[in-house]
Amino acid sequence: MSERRVLLIVGGGVAAYKALELVRLLRKAGVGVRPILTRAGAKFVTPLSLSALAEDKVYSELFSLTDEAEMGHIELSRSADLVVVVPATADLIAKAAHGLAGDLASTTLLATDKPVLMAPAMNVRMWLHPATRRNIETLKADGVGFVGPDEGAMACGEFGPGRLAEPPVIFAAVMAALKGPAPRPLAGKHALVTAGPTFEPIDPVRGITNRSSGRQGYAIAEALARLGARVTLVSGPVALATPPGVDRVDVETARDMLAACQAALPADVGVFVAAVADWRIDEVFGAKLKKDKHGPPTLVFVENPDILATLSATGPKRPRLVIGFAAETNDVEMHARAKLARKGCDWIIANDVTEPGVMGGEENAVLLISKDKTERWDRAAKDAVAHDLAQRIAESLS
Ligand code: CTP
Repeated sequence: MSERRVLLIVGGGVAAYKALELVRLLRKAGVGVRPILTRAGAKFVTPLSLSALAEDKVYSELFSLTDEAEMGHIELSRSADLVVVVPATADLIAKAAHGLAGDLASTTLLATDKPVLMAPAMNVRMWLHPATRRNIETLKADGVGFVGPDEGAMACGEFGPGRLAEPPVIFAAVMAALKGPAPRPLAGKHALVTAGPTFEPIDPVRGITNRSSGRQGYAIAEALARLGARVTLVSGPVALATPPGVDRVDVETARDMLAACQAALPADVGVFVAAVADWRIDEVFGAKLKKDKHGPPTLVFVENPDILATLSATGPKRPRLVIGFAAETNDVEMHARAKLARKGCDWIIANDVTEPGVMGGEENAVLLISKDKTERWDRAAKDAVAHDLAQRIAESLS
């Protein structure tokens, strides 16, 4: 990476000091950094600190005779492999979205022919304002990449999305962007993923559900999309944002989930992560049950269709690779292997949900079970498990 260069625009926000840490990380990794400091940015960090860490001159003025003599602003905008904006303030984002060119930073963003990565930071109301939402959408459509913002307590005393992503996270995004577009081994492939719980109604206001967060399924959908797949994510009710580039179909009941999966076929791979309710109420009450009138109701259950087993047996429309999940509390491998045979799928990803921090948590320790072998994967973050599984799917389909 030694010859790679970043043009770093430092905007005016309290978080600007974190840009200095980013510069340090980039220099340590051998990446050249040429800084542009906006007038507002200079209220928060000094040109001297930026220049010392970047080991380069700091550019600030659009109409500076000395700067222009050394390097014209058009040349400056093309002098790096990547333009990075940290912090990307609401003002800088708005200027870039509208193509304004009233100062050196905005002119650079308009004149550059290089990829642009922005790390936004601003007050939560400003971030959520429809004007900023529109500007972000415009920039995304223009191909600008984003890292963050994070959610949390802010310097202004409010709480919510708008905090600058941490420097190591921005650093990782910059390094990834410098490497160029990731390989897309699943381009042209269609992946069907189910995630989350189902909700089985009792009456119009009540129902039965489970504690599945949907996190593992969403992470898998995202990882598959990142490898280039077209992804249909059939999701039960969860509190998660749709991953970028994923088509999401929201459903409630197991029967709706099955119908949505069947409608999404054909698919090259099906990954069935949802925690589907095994049973539903036989006859859903048409009106709200009243405590005084009905007393404690007796609920009669009937079995739900098994989505994984049904899709494993769809004949010519069957996805080439069908993957089920199994959450077990004991004899994990034995139960999972029996499930593989019973459901007719190709792989089962099994996990022991008695392990602390797995159910509803951030990590997973899984076994990949296929007809002829068992692999034990190290405990890892759900995102990492998703990434590894997506890679394995890509290898299997190639
Ligand atoms: N599954 C499904 N449809 C169902 C039930 C389960 O598609 N009605 C899928 C899940 O998405 C998962 C796999 O089947 O991929 C295993 O789910 P699990 O609940 O462990 O299987 P069950 O057959 O319900 O077995 P158990 O008796 O252990 O609950």
